[in-house]
Amino acid sequence: MNTADLIWANGELVAWEDAKVHVLTHALHYGTGVFEGIRAYETEQGPAIFRHREHLERLEKSARLYYMDVPYSLDELREATHELIARNGLRSCYIRPLVVRGYGEMGLNPLENPVEVYIAAWEWGAYLGEEGKANGVRAKTSSYRRISPESLIPHSKASGQYLNSVLAKVEATKAGYDEAILLDHKGVVCEGAGENVFVIRDGVITTPGHTSSILDGINRRSVIEIATDLGYTVVERELARAELPLADEVFLTGTAAELTPLREIDDIPIGDGVPGPITREIQGMFDDALHGRTPQYADWLDLVPVPSGT
Ligand SMILES: Cc1ncc(COP(=O)(O)O)c(C=O)c1O
Repeated sequence: MNTADLIWANGELVAWEDAKVHVLTHALHYGTGVFEGIRAYETEQGPAIFRHREHLERLEKSARLYYMDVPYSLDELREATHELIARNGLRSCYIRPLVVRGYGEMGLNPLENPVEVYIAAWEWGAYLGEEGKANGVRAKTSSYRRISPESLIPHSKASGQYLNSVLAKVEATKAGYDEAILLDHKGVVCEGAGENVFVIRDGVITTPGHTSSILDGINRRSVIEIATDLGYTVVERELARAELPLADEVFLTGTAAELTPLREIDDIPIGDGVPGPITREIQGMFDDALHGRTPQYADWLDLVPVPSGT
């Protein structure tokens, strides 16, 4: 992976190679952490963080669902991220804030362990590849079901919960696919291993709703708004598994993958097997929004103040 010079660790900037934790950190053993995936894009006015406030709010809410109080305000985390990007001299980057239960008591009750906060940022290209963004990717329906609200908290972006996505991703990759699609505990379509999913049929866009164990994706919200502004009807409802191969178009959204079309599901081509016109239209508008080319969505971008002379 790419590295950067500095990482923000509990209020201080430390060298990348010195950003270390104790081996008895609670989160290493029990997954008691929450995190965010955020991107900053190069714009004409410098680096700009896409929907920064929404990501930080989700971080705080994810933590709250696991009984953690983040010991910094959202404004402090925002400023820390600005400083980190500026001091690392990054023009565009992936940003990974992480809140964990640290070293303290061993055992399942984490409530006495300190809550630690880290933020890393580094250059990271398209997660499913530029090729995938341009021509679409191939997915497999996972044999693993998405974590259910009966056992965990799908709405929290919690570290331990990602074992579910890891298993699905490994299974799909070993079988020769680019990504996994997970069904939820009821057997209806939930989402990709790290993306929300949208299906288009007869011009109507459908995506699973909050009761389908999804993560409330920030790119999902953005795409719903863009599609609606473009005049499309977007419906949030349960999606049967067969609605994916029967769709005219399917695409995935997520911070890492951005908007990536799906061209095949379980070896069945979707539509003509190439990204369709509605996907292309929304992808174009979304890309413009990410890069600050659309005044309509300018308030989605948090500009990073870069000190003069850098
Ligand atoms: C499981 C899962 N679903 C959906 C998403 C998409 O969320 P977002 O658009 O906020 O990145 C992600 C990525 O964060 C994810 O990990």
